[in-house]
Amino acid sequence: MNAFEYRNGVLHAEGVSVEDLALRHGTPLYVYSRGHLEAQFRALSGALADVAPQVFFAVKANSSAAVIRVMARLGAGADVVSGGELFRAVRAGIEPGRVVFAGVGKTAAEIDHAIGQGIQYFTVESEPEIERISACAARLGRPGRIALRVNPDVDPKTHKYTSTGKKENKFGVDLERAEKAYDLAASLPGIEIAGLHMHLGSPLADETPYVEALDKVAPLCARLRGRFASFRHLDIGGGYGIPYRPGQKPFDLSAFAAAVVPRLKATGLRVGIEPGRFFTGNAGILVTTVQYVKENPFRKFLIVDAAMNDLIRPPLYQAHHEIVAVRATEGTVFGDVVGPVCESGDFLAQERTLPAVPAGGLLAVLSAGAYGMVMASNYNSRGRAAEVLVDGARSAVVRERETWDDLVRGESIPEWLG
Ligand SMILES: Cc1ncc(COP(=O)(O)O)c(C=O)c1O
Repeated sequence: MNAFEYRNGVLHAEGVSVEDLALRHGTPLYVYSRGHLEAQFRALSGALADVAPQVFFAVKANSSAAVIRVMARLGAGADVVSGGELFRAVRAGIEPGRVVFAGVGKTAAEIDHAIGQGIQYFTVESEPEIERISACAARLGRPGRIALRVNPDVDPKTHKYTSTGKKENKFGVDLERAEKAYDLAASLPGIEIAGLHMHLGSPLADETPYVEALDKVAPLCARLRGRFASFRHLDIGGGYGIPYRPGQKPFDLSAFAAAVVPRLKATGLRVGIEPGRFFTGNAGILVTTVQYVKENPFRKFLIVDAAMNDLIRPPLYQAHHEIVAVRATEGTVFGDVVGPVCESGDFLAQERTLPAVPAGGLLAVLSAGAYGMVMASNYNSRGRAAEVLVDGARSAVVRERETWDDLVRGESIPEWLG
C-alpha cells in the first residue's frame, strides 16, 4: 500500500490533503498513515504465518502513543530498550507480558521496574547484566526471565552505526562464549532461561544475513533446548528493510519466508520478531515549508523550516530521503535542502534534483516514520514538531507542537545567581 499519493495534483495521506493538514497544524509536521502501519503488519505476519511469530514492535522506531496503540490493536507486543519505552508501551495499551526488554546498559531501577511489571523476558547482553538481573529477581522474589542476545558475527551490509551483529559491536555475547553465559545464568538464583535472541542490524536488504545467522545459532539452540525445559523462544530481532528511493526493491517477504521459515520450524521454538522500521518507515512523512530560496555562486539552497533536530538521519547515517512537492510541480532545481540550525551538517538532502518550490511552498520528506521524531531534539531551542495520524478521511493531532514554555519546563535559576 502506498499511503501517500497525489490526488488532483496535491499530495494526500490516505484520504486527507497534506496541504490542508499543513495549513491547519503548521509545519514542520509529521504525518502518519494508520492504513500503511496495518498493511505492513499484515504483510509480515502473513508471510511468516507458518511459524505464527510473536511480533514485538520495536518502539524505538516510533514511540508515538497513537502509533503504539495501532500496533497493540493488531496484536503486537513491544520490544523496548529503556524504562521510558516500557512505560510508553504499557501506557499505550500493550500488556507487560508481551514486552521484551533489550539494551546493553539496563539499570537496576529499570530491571526492578520491568520485573515488577511482569515483562515476557529481558534480552540480556552480557554476563554482568545476568548477575544484576539475578540480584534484582532474587530480591523481589519474582522470576527474571532472560533470552541471551547472541552476537553471531554476521555482516548485515548496512551502515556501520546500525550494524549490531558483528564481533566488534557492543551488542550481545559472541557465539563461542554464549553457552558459558547460559551456564552462569543457570547457576544464579532468580533466573529463568527463556530463550535466545539476536538482532543483526538495520535496515537489511534481504534474507541473507538472517539465514547465515540462523545457521550459526541453530546447533546452540538445539543443545540449550535439550538442557533447559524453560528454553522455548527464538527471537530473531528486527531490521527488515524498506524502500527509501523510487524504484528500490522492497524487502522480498516471500524469499525471506521461504529461506527462514523451514529453519525456524526445525528449531521447534516459539518465534519472535522485532520489526520497527518495516512498519513505520514508509507510514510517515515530514512536511516542511520553504522559507527562502538562496543562491550563491556554487550552490542553490531550499531553506526549509524542518531541520536536523527534526530528522537527523541524513547527516547521521548519510541516509537518503526522497523529497517531493506537496503541490505537484514539473519544474526542478538542483541543490540542497537545508534547515535553520547553525551547523553545516544541517541538511535533509544534498546535491539533488529537487522540485522547484518557491518560498512559502510545501515539501514532504518521505520515509520519515522510523527513527524520525524519536530522534528529534531541541537543539537551537527549537520546539519539536507536531504529529498527526491519518485514518482514511479522518485525522487527529497525536502530539502537539512544543511551545517555548515546553522548552524551559523543569529549568530553574538558583536564587543565589541574583
Ligand atoms: C534489539 C533490536 N530489535 C529491533 C530493532 C528494530 O530494528 P528495525 O527498526 O530496523 O526493524 C532494533 C533496532 O535498533 C534493535 O536494536
